[in-house]
Amino acid sequence: MTRSYSVRTYGCQMNVHDSERIAGLLEDAGYVAATDDDAADLVVFNTCAIRENADNKLYGNLSHLAPVKSGRPGMQIAVGGCLAQKDKDVVLTKAPWVDVVFGTHNIGSLPALLDRARHNERAQVEILDSLETFPSTLPARRDSAYSGWVSVSVGCNNTCTFCIVPSLRGKEVDRRPGDVLAEVQALVDQGVLEVTLLGQNVNAYGMSFADPDTPRNRGAFAELLRACGAIEGLERVRFTSPHPAEFTDDVIEAMAQTPNVCPQLHMPLQSGSDRVLKAMRRSYRKSKFLGILERVREAMPHAAITTDIIVGFPGETEEDFAETLDVVEKARFTSAFTFQYSARPGTPAATMPDQVPPEVVSERYQRLIKLQERICLEANQELVGTEVELLVVADEGRKSAATGRMTGRARDGRLVHFAVDPAAGIRPGDIVTSTVTEAAPHHLIADAGVASIRRTKAGDAHQAGTTPTTSPVGSNVGLGMPTIGASPIVETASACGTGGCA
Ligand code: SAH
Ligand code: SF4
Ligand code: F3S
Repeated sequence: MTRSYSVRTYGCQMNVHDSERIAGLLEDAGYVAATDDDAADLVVFNTCAIRENADNKLYGNLSHLAPVKSGRPGMQIAVGGCLAQKDKDVVLTKAPWVDVVFGTHNIGSLPALLDRARHNERAQVEILDSLETFPSTLPARRDSAYSGWVSVSVGCNNTCTFCIVPSLRGKEVDRRPGDVLAEVQALVDQGVLEVTLLGQNVNAYGMSFADPDTPRNRGAFAELLRACGAIEGLERVRFTSPHPAEFTDDVIEAMAQTPNVCPQLHMPLQSGSDRVLKAMRRSYRKSKFLGILERVREAMPHAAITTDIIVGFPGETEEDFAETLDVVEKARFTSAFTFQYSARPGTPAATMPDQVPPEVVSERYQRLIKLQERICLEANQELVGTEVELLVVADEGRKSAATGRMTGRARDGRLVHFAVDPAAGIRPGDIVTSTVTEAAPHHLIADAGVASIRRTKAGDAHQAGTTPTTSPVGSNVGLGMPTIGASPIVETASACGTGGCA
């Protein structure tokens, strides 16, 4: 009997993309996507551990599933991702009804672990300390017909004192440029218009190739951007995340000189205080950060720059926080993901003295949000009257459906709800142009009517309910593993979903 599955994803874009691999593996193993998530025979949680509330959320969700599982014989629950990597068999202590716990380094083992759990009627826990299989060599069931994620690296060699990611994702391993580009090309061949290159620190790309025969190359990321520029049909290239310490001018030049690289940059600040940055072991300083933004804007005057900021890092004083507000005021970010510091087990910051009381963190956090909202709105208001080119999206349009608008992403990444004549037959994946008529802090409105429509292959694919079927690309050279052979993936209905920051 065919078993249905549902994957629930938490956390960052890496996890969103890993979930595409998990779905691809499951479909290769004969599972089918559940039409009703609540009735799936298999529920996979792909978890995140970046902040403490992620833990609480997972165990709460697992509790809700316990009675469902006892009422449905044969149902299985698997927990993977970063929180599984962190908690290991504790997942089973807290939720003994879970069938499989797998980590970030062995996604490929999931189908076998599920079989073993069923056969042995015993929960299976398999967590490895280092990467077993490059996720990019696994099959994928892609979510979108028009946008694709492509990993350039996994893991992180930095040691930011607040961050649990390196202990859960391991040391950085870079893919060969040829493998990355082959995957991009395969997506574009099937109509994908937009690709986002993924890595915890894309600026370090080139220094940790898994393949011993690929020479280390500091300029590898800029070269990769330029090579993407040569791929015909690829209209939009984005990447996340760069690290300010290693952000070099060759990347700015490559961005500015490569027309399909979007005028958008997500550049995590974390704090505006030099003292706090030092304690965070983030090796850039306020002036360097602002200097990068200046050079980016010189080269790309309309670049939208976004960031991540942590409020309440241990020892953060009111003066330190004022420095953060000052950078925010000067940097004029298009948007900012703001986080209250959360102590993570095993990280140096967790045991630092002078942890900031929650009420102080919360009060600062509110002030930061208020300032950033004002800046978001001001920056968006400057765009009223300008023309925007939009890639129509399916996933973020729910709110605008009620108003008769559709939603698109501008080249700079901004979300734009635009008025549309239903008779025009515009589909997610098509490209339209319109004029901005109104601004809000987190989106723009374009009610001037659609000036042009370009129907695309991606739009056709979305309408037909198909998504790209990239065969596994690349090899495990350097990981001591054989290459996995090409594995066809059945075309599946598109259920678009992209993840924001954790
Ligand atoms: N590799 C990325 C960050 C990935 S984590 C980078 O360096 O840019 C995404 C964001 O979560 C971080 O940028 C940081 O702002 C936030 N974050 C990480 N650890 C955190 C913690 N312990 N408490 C609060 N926010 C945290
Ligand atoms: Fe974490 Fe720092 Fe690595 Fe980003 S660069 S994943 S914040 S350790
Ligand atoms: Fe892991 Fe991403 Fe969360 S790397 S801890 S899923 S933010």
